[in-house]
Amino acid sequence: MTVESARPLIPETAELREPPLAGGGVPGLGHGLKLARDPLAFMSRLREHGDVVRLKLGPKTVYAVTTPELTGALALSPDFKIDGPLWESLEGLLGKEGVATANGPRHRRQRRTIQPAFRLDAIAHYGPVMEEEAHALTGRWRPGETIECTSESFRVAVRIAARCLLRGDFMDERAERLSIDLAAVFRGMYRRMVIPLGPLYRLPFPANREFNRALADLHLLVDEIVAERRASGQKPDDLLTALLEAKDDNGDPIGEQEIHDQVVAILTPGSETVASTIMWLLQVLAEHPEHAEKVRTEVESVTGGRPVGFEHVRSLTHTNNVVVEAMRLRPAVWILTRRALTDTALGGYRIPAGADIVYSPYAIQRDARSYDRNLDFDPDRWLPERAKDVPKYAMSPFSVGNRKCPSDHFSMTQLSLITAAISAKYRFEQASGSNDTTRVGITLRPHDLRLRAMPW
Ligand code: HEM
Repeated sequence: MTVESARPLIPETAELREPPLAGGGVPGLGHGLKLARDPLAFMSRLREHGDVVRLKLGPKTVYAVTTPELTGALALSPDFKIDGPLWESLEGLLGKEGVATANGPRHRRQRRTIQPAFRLDAIAHYGPVMEEEAHALTGRWRPGETIECTSESFRVAVRIAARCLLRGDFMDERAERLSIDLAAVFRGMYRRMVIPLGPLYRLPFPANREFNRALADLHLLVDEIVAERRASGQKPDDLLTALLEAKDDNGDPIGEQEIHDQVVAILTPGSETVASTIMWLLQVLAEHPEHAEKVRTEVESVTGGRPVGFEHVRSLTHTNNVVVEAMRLRPAVWILTRRALTDTALGGYRIPAGADIVYSPYAIQRDARSYDRNLDFDPDRWLPERAKDVPKYAMSPFSVGNRKCPSDHFSMTQLSLITAAISAKYRFEQASGSNDTTRVGITLRPHDLRLRAMPW
């Protein structure tokens, strides 16, 4: 991966303007209520007020960036780091020493450690596991059966991440436990991040008990995985070995806490994001049967009727475009935040040191200024002759710069393979009790998607 990084041109401070205040604030509460009530609609309207706008969240001022160009500038600038209230609450739950929350030299060192596991040549070695899991998913379903898409999507996402990156036979049974724990942790985590009620979350309500049990088991599982690998004496060429063998900047082995937090920091973003995207892909296949049919036909023509495999993914153009278009309209990561390290500027606006900045890939990727028929599901917009018209940074679901997701190729490969494998076998209809409206959490996903898997 190329780590792009560029300091934006900063005009003299005197020339910098104060970003306008976004409209619609309520005295005392500012924009907090609107943001809490309907965050997607709120973030999507901000560009009407300016390229960079100020939001008032109670007494606090937060800056929002609303254009593709400036989100790119923000992500690429060394003047901003990962920090802010959301990250702090995440660290409290998942650990402080993992790559997703580290900054500076520690972050650079950790990226160097994990990056080889996500390189294109490494991904080819994961092909057999991805194939096995994609076909096992459809193998579990019976024709006409109602599928609980949330648990099915979590299971396959966690199993692929755990089996590919942490390997070992023991993963098969552990992956099952991991997927149950992670699903429960993510259910409770967003609430704790957005409404930090501290000790109230320790009261013995069933939801708190479930969350605390799952979080404790997640940490226990990670300790078990690390201990078992050490006890085995084996050092396969995988991410876990890379983490166990990593050295700090002085050449000393990294501490136990960092190893633990690193495994957590890779498993957690690696499961919820992929699982949410699989849910949206299933929803899209049900809602757009014409595209489901087109994917099926493409898979058949590329594979000649054989089970779809890793080697076919590159030829599945329409399938890949369906995945990209689903990610455009429903990006798993819908909000990102940064904190200014220094007095700096974005788009000619003054950003003071310590300011929190937010932007929404959801808002950017649905903006009518960047996309014709912006809300239509149109995978063909990703054909090369049309994709060239999409403004730079208007489609960056994995972000850019030094915090870019290391797993973009790993994720896209498994998502295309899974979409191809399920579409080859089934078409989908909404089942009774299904609720495919958008649930806003750490990621975006359908509230409770239930589909009937119908044979072609
Ligand atoms: C970071 C999206 C899958 C591991 C990120 C970021 C985004 C993202 C937008 C950047 C966050 C920021 O700028 O603040 C996604 C999407 C995925 C996906 C859309 C799938 C659809 C995965 C998977 C893994 C993973 C499968 C690992 C198995 C990470 C890690 C980081 C990260 C470790 C932190 C990188 C850093 O801070 O240097 N992801 N991700 N992601 N992602 Fe992913």
